[in-house]
Amino acid sequence: MCGIIGYIGLPDRTKNVLYSGLKSLEYRGYDSSGLCFIEDNETRVVKSEGKLENLNKKLNKHKINSSVGIGHTRWATHGKPSEINAHPHTSGPISVVHNGIIENYSELKDELIKKGYEFYSDTDTEVIAHLIHDFLNSEFSFEDSVRLAFERIEGSYAVAILNQNEPDKIIATRRFSPLIIAQNENECFLASDIPAIIPYTNKVIYLEDNDYAILNADEVLIKDMDGNETTREVKIINLDPVMVEKSGFRHFMLKEIHEQPRAVFDTLRGRISESMDSVIFEELDLGFLENINRVVVVACGTSFHASLIGKYMLESIAKINAQVELASEFKYREPVLDSKTLLIAVSQSGETADTSEALSEAKLRGVKSLGITNVELSKISREADYVLHTKAGPEIGVASTKAFTTQVLVLYLFSVFLGLHKKSISKKIARQLIKDVISATKLQQTVLNLDGEIKELSKEFYHYKNFIYLGRGVSYPVALEGALKLKEISYIHAEGYAAGEMKHGPIALIDESMPVVFIAPDDEVYYKKLLGNFKEIKARGGRIIFITSNEEIVKMLDKDDRKIIIPKCSNLISPLITTIPVQFLAYHIANLLGTDIDQPRNLAKVVTVE
Ligand code: F6R
Repeated sequence: MCGIIGYIGLPDRTKNVLYSGLKSLEYRGYDSSGLCFIEDNETRVVKSEGKLENLNKKLNKHKINSSVGIGHTRWATHGKPSEINAHPHTSGPISVVHNGIIENYSELKDELIKKGYEFYSDTDTEVIAHLIHDFLNSEFSFEDSVRLAFERIEGSYAVAILNQNEPDKIIATRRFSPLIIAQNENECFLASDIPAIIPYTNKVIYLEDNDYAILNADEVLIKDMDGNETTREVKIINLDPVMVEKSGFRHFMLKEIHEQPRAVFDTLRGRISESMDSVIFEELDLGFLENINRVVVVACGTSFHASLIGKYMLESIAKINAQVELASEFKYREPVLDSKTLLIAVSQSGETADTSEALSEAKLRGVKSLGITNVELSKISREADYVLHTKAGPEIGVASTKAFTTQVLVLYLFSVFLGLHKKSISKKIARQLIKDVISATKLQQTVLNLDGEIKELSKEFYHYKNFIYLGRGVSYPVALEGALKLKEISYIHAEGYAAGEMKHGPIALIDESMPVVFIAPDDEVYYKKLLGNFKEIKARGGRIIFITSNEEIVKMLDKDDRKIIIPKCSNLISPLITTIPVQFLAYHIANLLGTDIDQPRNLAKVVTVE
């Protein structure tokens, strides 16, 4: 949550690098923003409440003639979204932008107030600026003041600091929040994430916890908190800047829905043997999986729903005991873990605090761990024993779409991999499972062609105030995911249920004002049961949107019901297909309601607070 950027180098680039950097970090928070730069040894701050466009309007009135600046886009934690709470925060010559939470801020604040520092905002960040200023006032150098301040500060942070009396440098440090730095000839950058820097260079350095960096226009020094110089590897990032653009789509979310066949293809590429009967995970060491007899998957939100689908796959393919936990609950109960348990942490960003905390807890207990993330070098990627990357490419829309399908795919491939390793499945079965999943990209393409049809259908449904989503088996987590997508981008109340659970309570909700989105791919096991659930809803006047490949059930629909016909596919891969219509439905309903689809209210793409 929150994105930070910093630049030092060529005066004619400062404004553009800072503003466009913030634009590409806006997914991390968008309730207010600000930047500051040093001109004639004076700090100039420009801030605005609301979206970045508001900041841009103000910036257009400024001619920035400065070779150094820092910026911030905010997702409020301490203090409501407002101009006064927007970063940068200043104290005397010091200005600071911060991503994270300072846990001991109220104790520090009391201390600083007693010393005469006046606080103008409700943020935890302001203590950082005053604390550094306080050390400067005690005659410490800028660098030592930063170091001493962070010896006192507890919590999570990625911070960039300017001192108007030393405009030739930015100092940055981090602990538990991501921070990258990069260098070109005569200029240096820092940012919370790659998209802010990728237009300028693909060579980046990931700062480690408690590192601090001193950025000059032509040099970067990295030190540990004792002031000893250290080196960090320069990583080459393979990211095409075009991937972080909308490419003609109205929203990133729509673009990302349409990218799913490509994302699935990229995630599959190189991971299937030539004989098509085994999965190749070069990243994994087979010895690592020895003796594993149980898998615990931890995740949040959409990644949790993908993990629930993974449970069906791990059990039915690998025949292993699998349990899925909300990461936010996992750490604070007493999970029973042993050396035969494998913990899998699933996270698009690889930075979600709840998930990475659950991973750390499992590691503390000596449990083997595997990360499934979409962001290489993210926290979870670095901390898990092994990591499998989804190759969805950058996901910018706050509502997760292509990350979900690629997580489902990796969990499927891992189930086949583990099943073969544990000899729970034969090569023959593995070949069939692989054949099924290879067909997914083509089937997804067919479903993407339903975009226009679902757009039309949305016009009939966007005024409803409540929705229910139903599914059985692997379609149950798809129902949860469909309801989550609708909630988060259209603000319509929606619930997902296992279809068989309806009769135990939720059926009381059914009447003509409650559309039911029924996810029912054709499946022998569930056919009769689905039919029963279907009739129960019809008997109570419910209006159904049926997502199915079963022509028989379609014949039973009333004139008020609607159908979305999807191609037939194997049950286990069906979530890769059935998810697309629920994504489209949420998207088009939200679009008709005119909500801010890529940046829905109150949300942030990366949730780095517990
Ligand atoms: C919903 C959504 C969130 C995330 C959740 C976990 O569309 O995007 O529910 O899935 O915040 O994020 P990651 O996967 O980055 O750990």
